[in-house]
Amino acid sequence: MLVTGSIDEIRSTVRLWKRERLTVGLVPTMGALHEGHLHLIRQLREEVDRVVVSIFVNPTQFGPGEDYTSYPRTLDDDLKKCRKLRTAAVFHPDSSDMYPADPRLSIDIRDLNEHLCGASRPGFFEGVVLIVNKLFNIVEPDLAIFGQKDFQQYQIISRMVREFNHPVRLRMGEIVRANDGLALSSRNSYLSNQERLVAPSLYRSLRYISLQIEQGVSDPALLLEHQKRELEGKGFKIDYFGIYSVDELHPVDTMEPGRNYLLAAAVYLGKTRLIDNMILSSKS
Ligand code: PAJ
Repeated sequence: MLVTGSIDEIRSTVRLWKRERLTVGLVPTMGALHEGHLHLIRQLREEVDRVVVSIFVNPTQFGPGEDYTSYPRTLDDDLKKCRKLRTAAVFHPDSSDMYPADPRLSIDIRDLNEHLCGASRPGFFEGVVLIVNKLFNIVEPDLAIFGQKDFQQYQIISRMVREFNHPVRLRMGEIVRANDGLALSSRNSYLSNQERLVAPSLYRSLRYISLQIEQGVSDPALLLEHQKRELEGKGFKIDYFGIYSVDELHPVDTMEPGRNYLLAAAVYLGKTRLIDNMILSSKS
């Protein structure tokens, strides 16, 4: 497995593979790899000859006061996990190489970041789009995979790929959960033992709403209110909790039969921010 922080080295390695007619896949991550990330690697390995994993805690997607400095960094462990999965290369650049001083350009996002995480974390998706744009240009993958856990991120990146004509195909990986339903996240390590016990209630609430809607409830406002209150009673602070259109990512009040919607939430448990979502199919 090639382990490199050099932009030139990863680029020339990938180009060599491509000259040998091998296909290349990219799994962008910020490290602290868990089973969710590993599942993406496995899924991509089914489809391409060489998998590249990037590990980079991207400073431009953290706002002031967010956890950039305390974000878990576990490179040795991550490399072991990647090796086990027969990853061909790990690209882990330094911040100074990815962001030479004094940049003069940025990417704007319109509308798609007005709700959900885009509303609560100003500048977050601009940072994500910037780094993924750079990673695509550096690695030049044929295929890249992102998790459904960050559904808005996936939608914005797929829009970027379309609008900026990146020659890459995208895959979405399903949400990997712990046995009790909690979506795996590098940030789960911030939870205290007590908080960890309470955390799966978020999944259970989403699941409950999803089942009710599958069974024909078409006016979800009361259902959402009730579940929000239940979670607040357990100590969660709600950032957002609602039903959104899948493409535009705007909140919806009523659900048209036979269409898919995104049920999504972000909550705080103590200092830890948890996100989760489900795709709802309303009854036709
Ligand atoms: P990170 O949070 O490390 O996540 C890397 C990838 O793993 C993302 O595509 C994310 O959706 C996916 N992922 C996280 N938890 C998952 C789970 N429980 N099940 C399945 N997939 C999961 O997302 C980022 O990093 C960054 O924003 C990045 C795209 C790397 C840009 O910096």
